[in-house]
Amino acid sequence: MAPERASVQDLIERAREVRHRAYAPYSDYPVGAALLTSSGQVFEGANVENAAYPTTMCAERIAAFTAVTHGERDFETIAVVTKNGAAPCGACRQVLSEFGGDLLVIAADVDGKIHLKSKLKDLIPHAFGPQDLAQP
Ligand code: THU
Repeated sequence: MAPERASVQDLIERAREVRHRAYAPYSDYPVGAALLTSSGQVFEGANVENAAYPTTMCAERIAAFTAVTHGERDFETIAVVTKNGAAPCGACRQVLSEFGGDLLVIAADVDGKIHLKSKLKDLIPHAFGPQDLAQP
């Protein structure tokens, strides 16, 4: 029997777990993300910081890039867990928008409380996208 499709609660739990694997010695702000794709697979990410600060990579982008690396580009839901339930940063919103604005974005805190539940397109209106490059 096929496994059950991950629920929002499952995704929050996966993000909460993977957050423990973040490498965030500089900010002490670990982030976990779990991204459900249309095939039913879940791809995780945790932020990875670097002594050269700008080379740090956010949890959401690691989850998205891992999904794409595995041939998955149709994103359904992403859950992001931080200590205070903060929303994804602008860079992550831009990267995720490449693959469509209908993605459901959930931001929860470590206690599982949901602080944000919103479609990506409402978080990054007028995103720059492939359609802009196609215009003359
Ligand atoms: N961070 C994320 O992983 N995702 C976000 O959307 C915002 C910020 C990380 C980057 C850095 O490692 C730490 O949180 C503090 O900015």
